[in-house]
Amino acid sequence: MASSIVLFGPPGAGKGTQAGNIVRLTGKPQISTGDMLRAALAAGTALGLEAKGYMEAGQLVPDEVIIGLIEERLTEPDASDGVLFDGFPRTIAQAEALSEIADVSVVIAIEVPDSRIVERICGRYTCGNCSAVYHDSFNPTAVEGVCDNCGHTEMKRRADDNEETVLSRLSAYHTQTAPLASWYDERNLLVNINGDQDIDLVGGEIAAVIVFDL
Ligand code: AP5
Ligand code: MG
Ligand code: ZN
Repeated sequence: MASSIVLFGPPGAGKGTQAGNIVRLTGKPQISTGDMLRAALAAGTALGLEAKGYMEAGQLVPDEVIIGLIEERLTEPDASDGVLFDGFPRTIAQAEALSEIADVSVVIAIEVPDSRIVERICGRYTCGNCSAVYHDSFNPTAVEGVCDNCGHTEMKRRADDNEETVLSRLSAYHTQTAPLASWYDERNLLVNINGDQDIDLVGGEIAAVIVFDL
């Protein structure tokens, strides 16, 4: 399989926000395990039911569930030239499993201090049609209630985007996910990006990394 890119970072770092640009630059499809789990939940599948309690509590869904989901997704034809992983892997076990099934060329870590995360997450909304990501103050739609990207007029807020759940998600990030940064650094794959700046500036820095990687 051709090489894949990993977007890494805490909840609210801007992974989903930056993914669109990377997809346009590379042509690789975005694989967001969070989006896949939410779709399963909305469709009422067994996977969705299994994931629900973990997601609502801000905890990670068990590794075997996530790894099975990724293995299946990577068999689809659009994944054959490599993909953009968003929010996966999130544990060392997931990274080890991934290393068996895909070739990762770069891990882009978007760094944002904890003190910024709650305001980002609690102001987030997304387009109900195309999943474009917005923020009440930092990145509102140009016309209130109308998606810039597709013109759809139904916006959604995530069930886990409340202050209490965000704090659990941050704690899961620090204990289970953050150690992966040094795991990838030891493999010379990690590139750190300052995510605490304007969305366009973050995008420009990521684009420079991607172009170098292509
Ligand atoms: P997931 O959907 O992956 O959520 P997350 O990691 O918590 O990340 P977010 O989607 O909240 O943040 P983001 O980095 O995409 O930020 P965004 O661009 O939206 O996972 C949800 C749950 O699913 C997990 O808790 C877990 O239960 C489960 N799960 C998923 N994957 C799993 C896995 N691999 N293993 C186990 N469990 C898994 O931006 C956030 C807001 O900030 C937006 O409003 C945006 O407009 C704004 N913003 C973005 N960039 C900027 C900027 N530079 N300046 C100001 N505002 C900005
Ligand atoms: Mg996201
Ligand atoms: Zn839209």
